[in-house]
Amino acid sequence: MSALTSESRFVDSFETRIADIDSVDIDKLHALSMSVAWPHRREDWQFLRDFGQGIAAIDEIGRILGSAMWFPYGGRFATIGMVITSPRLQANGAGQWLMGHALDQVAGRNLGLNATRAARRLYLSLNFVREASVFQCHGEAILPPDVELPPGAAIRAVEADDLEAIAALDSLAFGTDRTLLLARLLANSKGVVLIRAGRIEAFSLCRRFGRGHVIGPVVASNDADAIAVVHPHAVEHAGAFLRVDTREKGGTFADFLSRCGLPIYDIVTTMSLGDPWLPVPGRRGMHEPKTYALVSHTLG
Ligand SMILES: CC(C)(COP(=O)(O)OP(=O)(O)OC[C@H]1O[C@@H](n2cnc3c(N)ncnc32)[C@H](O)[C@@H]1OP(=O)(O)O)[C@@H](O)C(=O)NCCC(=O)NCCS
Repeated sequence: MSALTSESRFVDSFETRIADIDSVDIDKLHALSMSVAWPHRREDWQFLRDFGQGIAAIDEIGRILGSAMWFPYGGRFATIGMVITSPRLQANGAGQWLMGHALDQVAGRNLGLNATRAARRLYLSLNFVREASVFQCHGEAILPPDVELPPGAAIRAVEADDLEAIAALDSLAFGTDRTLLLARLLANSKGVVLIRAGRIEAFSLCRRFGRGHVIGPVVASNDADAIAVVHPHAVEHAGAFLRVDTREKGGTFADFLSRCGLPIYDIVTTMSLGDPWLPVPGRRGMHEPKTYALVSHTLG
C-alpha cells in the first residue's frame, strides 16, 4: 500500500482514517459540502450515496474532514465527484490522499470528472487531461418567449415506458449506457420527450436539486430540439431558482438559456484519465444526439 493510500494519516494535527461513505452520518456529509458553499441538500447526498460509492475521511472524534465518490457505469467507465476537504485542512495533502483511495477503487476504468477551479491542479497532478468547459447557468428563471416546435415534431411528458428509448439516446450522446441512473432519475423528475415520426428524438428531465430545480440531462440532435424540450421546464419554474449545466458556449441553445434568466455563474473543466471521454469536436455527425445539459457535475 503506498503512502498515498495508507489507511490513516495525520492531516495537519488530526489523525484521520478512511471510512465507507455509507457508514457515516449524512448530516455530517451535508455539513461538509455546506462548508465549501456547495448547494447539495441532504436528499441530494442520499441520491448520490444510493447510486454510487465513496469514502469519507474521519478524525478521532468522528468529524468528517473529507469525501470522495465514484459512479461506475458498466464495466469500463466511471465518473468521480464529491471530492471535498474541509476548508480548515485544505492544502495539507488530504485531497491527494482521498483521490489515491478513489483511484484504487476504480482501477482499470476510464475516468471522467468535472473539476472546479480549486481542484484543477490536484487532477492535473494525477494525470487527468482537460477536455472541455462546462458552463453552470443558474438564476431566478424568467418566463421565456413562446417557441415554435421544430418541423414534424411533437412533445409530451415523459412516461415510465420511455426508459429504454431515452437510455438508448443518452447512451449515444454520453458514450456509455446509463439506464440504471436514468431509471432513478425518472422516479425523481418531470420530463419531456420530443417525438418525430413515432420516435423519441430528444428528451429532458428536471428535478429538485440544491437551491431549486436543475434541468438535466438534456439530449437532442440540434439546438431547436433541445430548446423544445427545455422550454416547458423553464415556463414551469419561472420566478424560481433554476440551473442548467451545459457545454454549449454560444449558439441558440446558450442564447435561450440567457433569455430564461440563467446567466453563466461558474465554469468547471471536464477532464478524463484513460480514453478520452467526450467525442472529438467536429467528429459528431449532424444528426447524432449530444448532451446539451448534464445530470450534474458529479454524474456527468
Ligand atoms: C479541491 C480540494 C478537494 C483539494 O483538497 P486539498 O486537501 O486542498 O488537496 P491537497 O492538499 O492534496 O492539494 C492538492 C493539490 O492542490 C494544490 N492546492 C491546494 N490548495 C490550493 C490552493 N488554495 N491554491 C492553489 N493550489 C492549491 C496543492 O498544492 C496540491 O498540488 P500538488 O499536488 O501539485 O502539490 C479542496 O480544495 C476542496 O475541497 N475544495 C472545495 C470543493 C471542490 O472544489 N472540490 C473539487 C470538486 S471537482
